[in-house]
Formats: sequence, C-alpha cells, structure tokens
Amino acid sequence: MRIVFFDAKDYDKKAFEQYEGKEGLEFKYYETKLCEDTAELARGADVVCVFVNDDVNAAVIEKLYDFGVKLIALRCAGYNNVDLSAAYEKIHVVRVPAYSPYAVAEHTMALLLCSIRRIHKAYIRTKDFNFSLKGLTGFDLHGKTVGVIGTGKIGRAFIDICRGFGMKVLAYDKYPAEIEGVRYTELDELFRQSDIISLHCPLTEETAHLINKDSIAKMRKGVVIVNTSRGALIDSEDLLAGLKERRIGAACLDVYEEESDLFFEDFSGHIVNDDTLARLITMPNVIVTSHQAFLTEEALSGIAETTVKNILDFFGRQELENEVCYHCGDFDDCKKKRKEKCF
Ligand code: NAI
Repeated sequence: MRIVFFDAKDYDKKAFEQYEGKEGLEFKYYETKLCEDTAELARGADVVCVFVNDDVNAAVIEKLYDFGVKLIALRCAGYNNVDLSAAYEKIHVVRVPAYSPYAVAEHTMALLLCSIRRIHKAYIRTKDFNFSLKGLTGFDLHGKTVGVIGTGKIGRAFIDICRGFGMKVLAYDKYPAEIEGVRYTELDELFRQSDIISLHCPLTEETAHLINKDSIAKMRKGVVIVNTSRGALIDSEDLLAGLKERRIGAACLDVYEEESDLFFEDFSGHIVNDDTLARLITMPNVIVTSHQAFLTEEALSGIAETTVKNILDFFGRQELENEVCYHCGDFDDCKKKRKEKCF
C-alpha cells in the first residue's frame, strides 16, 4: 500500500515512522499542500493522507480518482476541507475523530489564561528586565460565565477544565447532551450572558460565520472570544470591527479563516498580504497561535495510530469505523450503521 502524505512536517514523519514497512505500508512524504497543482504527486498512490489545510476540492478528487487513489485518510478530526459530495461513490474518506481532546482543550485554556493575565506581555517585558506591572491587570476566571458552543469531546474536556476553575458554564449544541452542572441555552442567551465564549463546534454551512456583527452586537461588552475550532466560524472583518469598537475585550485565535496559505509556514522574512490578520496581530488583546492546539506528543501518536488503523481497516475489512460521507447522519438506512462501508 503506497501512502502519499501532503503538508507533512517533521513531527508527522516522527509519529508515523514506527509503522513504515509494516503490514505492507510504504510512506512518501511531501511538504507541499494538496491542491489541483500538486495532485499529480499522488499518481501511483493507493492512499493520500492529508491535514487541515489541504484543499481536497472536487477537481482534486477527480484527479485522485483518475490516478486510482482509493482512500483519502485525514489525519485530523475536521473534514470541512474535503468535498464529500464529490468523493461519494469514488473515493472513501476516513478521519481521526478523537485523538487527544485534552490537547485542544488545554491549549484553549492556555490561550485564555495567557490573554487575560497578560502573560504574553509579561514574558517579553521580563526578557528585557522590565519588571513594571503597568497595564498588566487581569481578572479572575473564578465565578465568570463561559459560553461553550459545541459540547463534543473537546468542548466537554474544556468544560471540565473551566469547572475546575470555579467558572459557571453555559452551553449550546445542536444536539445537547446530559452534562452534570452544565446548562444548555439558546445561542442568543449564551451570547448575552457569557464573559468568555469558546468555540468547539465543527465548521459547517450552518456554523460558518456564527460569530459575526449581529452576534457580536448581542454579546457583553468586554467579552473574550476564543476559537480553537475552525477559522471560518468567525467573520474576521466583524471580529476586527468589534475589537476596534472595544466591544470585544480580547480574542484568542488558534485558527483563522484565511489560514491555509499562511499557517504552518515561516513568513517572518516576508510581507504578509492579509491586512485583516496583520491588523489583528498588532492588537495587544489578540493572541494568535498557528493551529497548534493539537500539537502534543500524545495527540500526534494517537493521530498516527488511528490513521494507520483506518488504512488497514479499509484494505482488510468491510467495516470502516471512521469513514465519513456526504450522507452521514441523513440516512435512516445508513450502511455504516449496518457496519458496512458507506458505498
Ligand atoms: P465532536 O464531534 O466530538 O464535537 C462537536 C460538537 O459540535 C458535537 O457535540 C456536535 O453536536 C456539535 N455541533 C454540530 N453542529 C453544531 C451546530 N450547528 N451548532 C452547535 N454545535 C454543533 O468534535 P471535537 O473532537 O470536540 O472537535 C470539535 C472541533 O474542534 C472540530 O470540528 C475541529 O474543527 C476542531 N479541532 C481543532 C483542532 C486544533 O488543533 N485547533 C484539533 C482538533 C479539532
């Protein structure tokens, strides 16, 4: 089985190296992202293994299909970058639904604490032997209300952390669950009552630009918005406007809607053309990390283990536990429920 990796970094190679050559697995790594121009590199591959910013659109899928690629193995949970309807009945798609929800939840809290306790400022100051506390006043998280949108694996891990801090938790989910000590509300109420809003839902047509000028207008003045989910959940222009108007107190962003041409690469010697991102980064109350919430040893080895299992399942068994397809969730007669491949 020939597996071609796109957007592969050293940490990916390290996590996957123990599986190389085992059970017929043969790996080829490319640093470039998958797009129409680079799809050619997948010629001769059985599987392409992609990450969050590879663009697996309909044209790319058509090319992969022509080359005989049988499986798209996402080494991530989200699959908004794959055109599932174009892939249906052509190429199967698998993902890693869970690796370490703690990695992302803990990074979410790290960003929040860093922001509200001004750690990012203090770090730079003390490096320069500036021990002044001027402008570093923060606020307690204890007793504050956090609004969590999306209470799946990561949302719940984050809720547990917040409850450890003595915070009140409000939640919104399209499919609410029973979680002790958590009150589900409508989105509008969550927007109105939360001191902090943290996004943990997937990016879908329904959730795209969930945070926009209208929702921002409903929020408390000084609200802190944290996004470790997907960039396009937030309308960046509206976020910028909210920050400039001082309605939004701070923003912590591990993801950005136009991140795909920037994140994971070093642009320190270049002029970045994205004025919105550049302006956001200039603000003292905005912290940006470049989609690194998943980046822990535990998460990387979990991703590699499940990806390899997905590939071996595909070639060896009928059931594909982690397959996603265009119809997922829609069908009463879902083949996956009958433990079969989606098509
Ligand atoms: P999950 O599938 O366990 O949970 C997602 C939750 O969102 C579910 O409870 C679901 O019911 C809910 N949901 C679906 N549609 C919704 C809607 N319209 N409104 C509100 N809630 C809705 O997923 P998990 O593992 O918790 O991951 C959440 C997101 O985190 C992923 O979709 C992905 O985008 C992001 N992520 C980010 C990473 C990073 O490194 N920054 C790493 C891993 C995931």
